[in-house]
Amino acid sequence: MLRILLLYLCALAAAENGSQGWLRYAPVPCDKACQDALPSSIVTLDRNETSPVYVAGQELQQGIQRIFNKTVPINYDNCAAPSSIIVGTLRDYNCSTQDIPELGEDGFVLNTTGDTVQLLGHNQRGALYAAFEYLSMLAQGNLSQVAYASDAHAPIRQVNEWDNMDGSIERGYAGPSIFFANGTVVDDLTRAREYARLLASIKINGIVVNNVNANATLLEPRNLDGLRRIADVFRPYGVQIGVSLNFASPRDFGGLDTFDPLDPSVVSWWENVTDQIYQRVPDLAGYLVKASSEGQPGPLTYNRTLAEGANVLARALQPHGGILMFRAFVYDNNLNESKWKADRANAAVDYFKPLDGEFEENVIVQIKYGPIDFQVREPASPLFANLNRTNVAIELQVTQEYLGQQCHLVYLPPLWKTVLNFDLRVDRKASPVRDAISGKTFNRPLGGWTAVVNVGTNSTWLGSHLAMSNLYAYGRLAWDPMADSEDILQDWIRLTFGSDNQVLDKITEMSMASWPAYENYTGNLGEQTLTDIIYTHYGPNPASQDNNGWGQWTRADAQGIGMDRTVGNGTGYAGQYPEEVAQLYEDIDTTPDDLVLWFHHVNYTHRLHSGKTVIQHFYDAHYSGAETAHSFVDMWESLRDKIDQERYDDVLTRLVYQAGHSIVWRDAIANFYHNLSDIPDETQRVGNHPWRIEAESMALSGYKPYAVYPFETASNATAIITTSNSTTGTASTTLSIPSGAYNLAINYYDLYGGSSLWTVYRNDDQIGQWTGDTKLGHIPSIYLDGHSATRVTFRDVEFRSGDVLRIVGEPDGTEPAPLDYVALLPGGVVD
Ligand code: GCU
Repeated sequence: MLRILLLYLCALAAAENGSQGWLRYAPVPCDKACQDALPSSIVTLDRNETSPVYVAGQELQQGIQRIFNKTVPINYDNCAAPSSIIVGTLRDYNCSTQDIPELGEDGFVLNTTGDTVQLLGHNQRGALYAAFEYLSMLAQGNLSQVAYASDAHAPIRQVNEWDNMDGSIERGYAGPSIFFANGTVVDDLTRAREYARLLASIKINGIVVNNVNANATLLEPRNLDGLRRIADVFRPYGVQIGVSLNFASPRDFGGLDTFDPLDPSVVSWWENVTDQIYQRVPDLAGYLVKASSEGQPGPLTYNRTLAEGANVLARALQPHGGILMFRAFVYDNNLNESKWKADRANAAVDYFKPLDGEFEENVIVQIKYGPIDFQVREPASPLFANLNRTNVAIELQVTQEYLGQQCHLVYLPPLWKTVLNFDLRVDRKASPVRDAISGKTFNRPLGGWTAVVNVGTNSTWLGSHLAMSNLYAYGRLAWDPMADSEDILQDWIRLTFGSDNQVLDKITEMSMASWPAYENYTGNLGEQTLTDIIYTHYGPNPASQDNNGWGQWTRADAQGIGMDRTVGNGTGYAGQYPEEVAQLYEDIDTTPDDLVLWFHHVNYTHRLHSGKTVIQHFYDAHYSGAETAHSFVDMWESLRDKIDQERYDDVLTRLVYQAGHSIVWRDAIANFYHNLSDIPDETQRVGNHPWRIEAESMALSGYKPYAVYPFETASNATAIITTSNSTTGTASTTLSIPSGAYNLAINYYDLYGGSSLWTVYRNDDQIGQWTGDTKLGHIPSIYLDGHSATRVTFRDVEFRSGDVLRIVGEPDGTEPAPLDYVALLPGGVVD
């Protein structure tokens, strides 16, 4: 019995559920020479158990134990021991007189060339970073001799979590919050501690723990006590916490009759609250504020400027050394599309440029990478070029809100790099966005990075093993934006899946192809992600972009598409960039194809630099993107014997789902623009599916046709549903196809509100069965639409002409076992 229990416990310990992220420290082969080269002791220059240096010593000991199965003792005062690892701050290091370079805040030296390994930080955090970096080398089997100093690109390197007090997470796809439940901070902060460790290992030094759409009840005393506990968990890892504030708190929570930032009672209310928070969390990073944005209260309510509002909070923070992150995401969400010159993209510069120089020195304006909202492609926000007397930070999204919600593989650094490397040509000089956020372009003292991450209680943190490459890469880029996306990815792969070359090659190939593929099947030529912007932000719904006040318009009609953002004839947005860039975008001939519809309204027949027309590009890109997504499945399957079962299966399920959903996207967008423009696909793929059998054309019993809305999210605009919520439906058809093996794809709708059961038969043989309860984490839908549309595939099924294909659907709850079509696909055909 004991033996069984032990075996079980070992299996649990070895379970690859993703909870360790890239810090798995899997064993690395180490021969005698390698073992001899390993350090024999660790010298930790701080005994305080809550200090990052102490934590670094512990991490080194555990890491080496796990990677090399070697127990290395820790001592605290023997800096001279040869063959030891020394970890500490430069100030505490007095073991050698050798020259150590000057380091910036959080910087470190990593030196393995002498008879000791030196991991020395400018501060405690830097020492911890050095330890993690050294461990990352060891975990990748890299025992080479290196000696270098490393400094941060920028002082602010934060993550934002959009966690609500009730434990839900806005735009989170990995389960509920690790911080909050039922209106307060959870008792068990074990996961928070593990998260702190992951963040420290990628050199993140700050975390804002609650949603930017902030709930003022965070300020209740019991919650402030909870924040103290969260801060205590993060502090040993060098990660400072921050909080999002609701600008109306003085009125809605404090009982004042106003939240006017210039009202003296409001000013002292904020000072008082700030003092109370700092009593509990003396090293609070500061506040994050979303004000006068998307219905959130703000200074504009009282005709005060955004700077006046920000400064009240900034001044309250100043005595404590805190920083105010003030979001630039301010725009009117009731714009009128009939006005040709109306443009949401103009808003940030319109609001903030006139205020340049008016913000307190401890304010950082936090700017999303593009002017709209985390789209699959956007030009760099022109605000980065327009604030030269104000600190700025970039806001990225690791959580894939508009980018597949972790159910589609999308490796994001190549997208981020289009913005970070974009040369704004400030004063006609090289001025990439990365230099604006580090403060270099305008000589600003503060600046940096933040990313909305939204980890949840799911063991994989983000809901998907492969999505973790984005979090890892975010930290790496925030430290060094010149690092190569592929190099970063490969470090992550080795740390996460091991160093097998085939594993390395395939995951690299898939990941690097993933953002271009996603762009191809979701939104081309700068046309934004054509998702449902007023519902889930997940599946296709191009019509939802227009005819509402949100301003994510495409202005698509029967003749053409795109926003004219020129100065000459459009919204004037192009003129918000410095002159050289403004000229580039003003002229359609110099505007790159991938942003042409962002800046210009053109006919579908407009010829791109590539030589294709806009409409043919749409068609071709969507077909090619879906094909690439299908290739991910084959690539992953080639790794079957090289990856543990648990992660292999989980990733495969997601990739198969993605391949199916890429067809949903492809067909929806292609059909939508085909219908609108009435221009056929030159290669006749669009609307022509020789391998498909529409469900509504099968013999139906207990099923009835159903017109799907939006029409383009069903093949032939029609699906079938059961005639009632308790009637079993049957759809059957006699096949007239050449006999042979086919991949049988069945498109159905997986609705929120029920788990229907479908069974598919060939004559009387059951081929397979599935339920409509995939819980992949994306926002579900209660309708038959592009979010719920899903495909299941049975591979290599033999069919003969004359066979009867029959699908039986049993509805459940409010899900009427919906079916769209079946496709019998010969090997290699993607449709
Ligand atoms: C997006 C997102 C919202 C979020 C907002 C923000 O619009 O959909 O959920 O609140 O951005 O960044 O504030």
